[in-house]
Amino acid sequence: MEITIEDLSIRMLDKLYEIEKQCFEKEAFTKQQIAYLVGDYNSIGLAARVDSEIVGFAIARVDIRRNMRFGHILTVDVVPAYRRKGIARKLLTQIEDILGQKGAKECRLEVRENNAAALSLYEKLGYKKVGKLEKYYGDAHGLYLRKIL
Ligand SMILES: CC(C)(COP(=O)(O)OP(=O)(O)OC[C@H]1O[C@@H](n2cnc3c(N)ncnc32)[C@H](O)[C@@H]1OP(=O)(O)O)[C@@H](O)C(=O)NCCC(=O)NCCS
Repeated sequence: MEITIEDLSIRMLDKLYEIEKQCFEKEAFTKQQIAYLVGDYNSIGLAARVDSEIVGFAIARVDIRRNMRFGHILTVDVVPAYRRKGIARKLLTQIEDILGQKGAKECRLEVRENNAAALSLYEKLGYKKVGKLEKYYGDAHGLYLRKIL
């Protein structure tokens, strides 16, 4: 199975939204939010394709706080039929490379405390828990993770 990675394009919007809805229930980004992020100068968005089909995507932003530039992963989505094939790992690794090229010194993200698949993925990639986010997802708690790039 060959996985190819490419930049997100606004032409993919319908497909990205379809995937987002398959991956998240309450916390899914709206189509408008995805469109905004795809077009935002400070966003980095990558899509994964298998056999010409888009099967996953990830979006991060470059943020600056107290003069430090850091990456913030906003979403990582892989369609159910293509999970556990290394697609999220490939998307995140490439996003981190781009963040590093843009001068980010670390990468941060939030994840649901009970999202075992995502937590395992992030820990495998070297992210460490740095805090708990009480009721971050309505009634569910979140965790704040960080990785030095
Ligand atoms: C989380 C998600 C993005 C993982 O995507 P994926 O392409 O299946 O992940 P990968 O195949 O790259 O997995 C890399 C590693 O992550 C871990 N992992 C991924 N899915 C896992 C699962 N269901 N259970 C346990 N560990 C898992 C494993 O360590 C895996 O390595 P291995 O397969 O060699 O054991 C995918 O399950 C998904 O889209 N979930 C819904 C959306 C979501 O929760 N996104 C993250 C929000 S913060």
